[in-house]
Amino acid sequence: MASRSPSPEFSPLSIGEDFTPVPTYKTASTTSIDFSGLLQPPLQLHEDLKTGCGGQLWPAGMVLAQQMLRYHRDALKDARILELGAGGGLVGLAVAMGCRVDHSIYVTDQQNMFELMGKNISLNGLESRVKALVLNWGEALPAEVLKEKPNVILAADCVYFEPAFPLLLSTLADLLDLCAEAVIYFCFKKRRRADMQFMKSAKKRFVIGEIKDEDRETFSREGLFLYTFKRKP
Ligand SMILES: C[S@@+](CC[C@H](N)C(=O)[O-])C[C@H]1O[C@@H](n2cnc3c(N)ncnc32)[C@H](O)[C@@H]1O
Repeated sequence: MASRSPSPEFSPLSIGEDFTPVPTYKTASTTSIDFSGLLQPPLQLHEDLKTGCGGQLWPAGMVLAQQMLRYHRDALKDARILELGAGGGLVGLAVAMGCRVDHSIYVTDQQNMFELMGKNISLNGLESRVKALVLNWGEALPAEVLKEKPNVILAADCVYFEPAFPLLLSTLADLLDLCAEAVIYFCFKKRRRADMQFMKSAKKRFVIGEIKDEDRETFSREGLFLYTFKRKP
């Protein structure tokens, strides 16, 4: 299925002056990630940029995964978890491996990331607990999602391509409409001034809370922000 949503290109040449550096191209490889000792055995993550920028892990993904492993290990037993813009599945897979979760976890992205998400699910033997799904922001939510009504949404490094901002906001709003008590754990890295426009729009639509994290001082120095979004009453 071809995606109809605009999809960002990974082109270092397109970076504006006020961009901070994005990850550089690497050749495809598989690495073990233990999230600063928080995950044993470590996650095996295959990274391959040939089908899109989500093919490698991004800094906000690391921060969000560590937050979930450090503070939510035992609080997600009954949670119905969905990850947006999962890329290779970094955050959702880390949660599946390191947190007690009874329901299947959905890792979602555009069609071009589907194969890589599947590969990483298999690499870690998580086929029975994690499902890859195509979910294009700004489009109708897939039937599985409508049925599952996720109440924990993970989104890391999904703010990086301005034309996709309204699409992402609309999907976040759809998910909060679908499940009124859902919490979105949202981590992003500010790279351009425009990224703050995303947060301004988000503040108008959702209740935003800052998340406590022992690494906050360190990652905020690097322009990384960690928030919860909830439905406005
Ligand atoms: C910068 S990557 C982040 C990957 C991963 N969450 C991480 O932190 O390592 C952003 C992801 O958003 C996905 N994405 C971009 N536009 C999208 C859209 N319109 N619908 C769904 N996913 C989209 C990309 O395919 C990519 O995998």
